[in-house]
This record gives sequence, structure tokens and C-alpha cells, in this order.
Amino acid sequence: MIFKKLYKNYWEFGFKSYLYDLLTPSAYFASLKSVTENVNVSSKNIILDVGCGTGQAIKLLRSDIKSGMRYIGLDLLKTGLDRTKSKASSFGIRNNTFCIQADFSKGIPIKIVSVDCIICHFALYVICDNSLRINLMTELFEVLKPGGTFIIANPSKSYDPKSIIQESARLDMCSNNAFNEIIRKHVVNPLAKQLGLNYIFSQLKNGHWKWFSLEEMVDEVTQAGFKVLSTKEVYGQSGYLVMARKP
Ligand SMILES: C[S@@+](CC[C@H](N)C(=O)[O-])C[C@H]1O[C@@H](n2cnc3c(N)ncnc32)[C@H](O)[C@@H]1O
Repeated sequence: MIFKKLYKNYWEFGFKSYLYDLLTPSAYFASLKSVTENVNVSSKNIILDVGCGTGQAIKLLRSDIKSGMRYIGLDLLKTGLDRTKSKASSFGIRNNTFCIQADFSKGIPIKIVSVDCIICHFALYVICDNSLRINLMTELFEVLKPGGTFIIANPSKSYDPKSIIQESARLDMCSNNAFNEIIRKHVVNPLAKQLGLNYIFSQLKNGHWKWFSLEEMVDEVTQAGFKVLSTKEVYGQSGYLVMARKP
């Protein structure tokens, strides 16, 4: 309970202060991109983002949402959902963006067989009880339409803040923007490491949050009923992405 309160405040502070968005390491954004690239895009489709935070995914999906795809962001925190809504307004996609405030550990308040794609980018790992997490994924399985896509990313057992920052620095160098590279190298990345990544590492190491082997992730996704299609190492070798389908 105390840990739930602590991490709630951790994200609450990050969302309210804008630090969560400002300090997102490039490697995290690249991992999110690997998720959104696999979304089955169609103007008729509905995508559910479980633990959507500040709705960073809509930055990457905005043209598809503009073309008619509907996005539902679900999160525990109103502050994150408020940021999601204001992002959607600034991209001109507010009409197709819906937000639901809910605690996913208590169930998913969405009609069964109603969405075409579900993404969970670094969200379900906060549930460290294995059966609770698998039950939640089984519920997500119910919510998805047959043939729908399920994409999940979680921290791996080799989660390492240093590797995340190194990978981010490599990506920043490729941005061909010297100013951006300097700011990220000397301000953003060190702060992200101190304020975010090290905290997450300690939560994972102490067992308050869950880190995974690839086999564990594949096994859980399969137990929930999905057919695993592919897997990928993401986030500077600090996370795994599993892409699956509801048969
Ligand atoms: C690491 S953030 C990831 C946010 C987003 N998916 C992204 O990639 O930017 C984890 C998110 O899970 C949300 N979360 C944690 N526990 C939750 C719960 N029990 N129910 C709903 N959302 C929860 C947090 O509020 C936070 O927004």
C-alpha cells in the first residue's frame, strides 16, 4: 500500500511539473515508437493505451488519429489524463481522443470485444503479483476483438540506467541537431538518470516492481490467451517488447 502511494506521488509529481515529458530519454521514446509502429492502423480502429501516462503515444499516432482512428488512454492519474487531453487538443485530435481514469489492478472498465489494438508501454510492471498481472492481461484479452493486436513492453532483468543513457546519447547524436544534443547530454540525460531511472532501478531491484526475463514475458502473454508473434529487446537492452495477437 505504502509503495502504491509512493509511486503514485512519483508520477503525479512528474506529470504535474512537466518533468516526465521533458526528461523522457530518447531511448524510451524509441521504444514507444517500436510499439506504435506495430499498431494496426485504420480509420475505423480503436486503440487502447493502458497506463497511458501523459499520452506520449499520441505524438506518434497523431496522423492516424487525425484520419479517424480512435484513441483511448487509461490511467490511474487525472494529471496524466489532463496532459493527454491537452496534447490531443494541440494536435487537433481531441474529438478522437478519449480518456478513462481507472485503477487497472481493479479491472478494465471497457466493454468486451470492443477494441482493435491494446498497447501497454512500461505500465503493467508496477503490478508485482504474478497472478494479478496475468488476470489483468486476461481481461485485456477479453476487451480485444479477435484478430486484434496486443503490444506490451516491460523492464528486463538487465535494466540498467547507464545503458539507457548511453543508448539515448547515441540516438541524440543521430538527431543532427547540435543544440539538442548538448542540452540532452548535459541537462536532460543526467537529470533523467538521477530523478527517474535510478528510482525505477531501485524499485525493480527491491522487488516492488517487476522486471522480466524474455521467457517470463512470453509465458505470461501466452497464458493470457494471446499468440505471440514477435519479440524485441528495447530501451538500451533494459526492456522487452512482445507483440501478440488474439486468435
Ligand atoms: C512508466 S509510466 C508509462 C506511461 C506511458 N505508457 C508511457 O510510455 O509514457 C506508467 C504509468 O502507469 C500508470 N499506472 C500505474 N499504476 C496504475 C494502475 N494501478 N492503474 C492505472 N494506471 C496505473 C501510472 O500512472 C503511469 O502513468
